[in-house]
Amino acid sequence: MPKTDTKQDQAKLSELKEFIAKCKEKPNPQSYLIAVLHKAQELYEYLPRDIMDMVAEQMNVPTAHIWGVATFYHYFNLTPPGKYTIQVCLGTACYVKGAGQIMEAIQDELSIETGGVTDDGLFSLQGARCLGACGLAPIIMVNDKIHGDLTPEKVRKVLKDYRKAEKSKAS
Ligand code: FES
Repeated sequence: MPKTDTKQDQAKLSELKEFIAKCKEKPNPQSYLIAVLHKAQELYEYLPRDIMDMVAEQMNVPTAHIWGVATFYHYFNLTPPGKYTIQVCLGTACYVKGAGQIMEAIQDELSIETGGVTDDGLFSLQGARCLGACGLAPIIMVNDKIHGDLTPEKVRKVLKDYRKAEKSKAS
């Protein structure tokens, strides 16, 4: 059964079930599977296993099919995101100003690939389309904070600053 420990969990689950119910009223409901998974990820920030089982049951499709869809589309996350989600803008303006090197520096600094989460659960890393701040290219967004005019050295410092801030919170 999906997690319903808190009111917030229950609210998310009801919202998802309502969404599925609406899809099931339409002709060919199974064609709404991706829309349902989008909705689930919007609510949970990733696709928890128990939620995928619930979607399979409600949409009347095998869980294996849901896994197939979820793993095929890179958009879907199958693991919980880190405390800080880093989105590296790979839009044109950022790309021509070195987004590739920014991505490599982050991967190297955190020892994770795109789509991964650090072992301590602090950071997750994603590529993104234009984030709408091209004047500051190349940029990354950490949760909802933009860091712009980056170089590989600057981005390493940004990450170190987040780690430092976390350590000082913990002590
Ligand atoms: S291309 Fe990166 S913010 Fe627009």
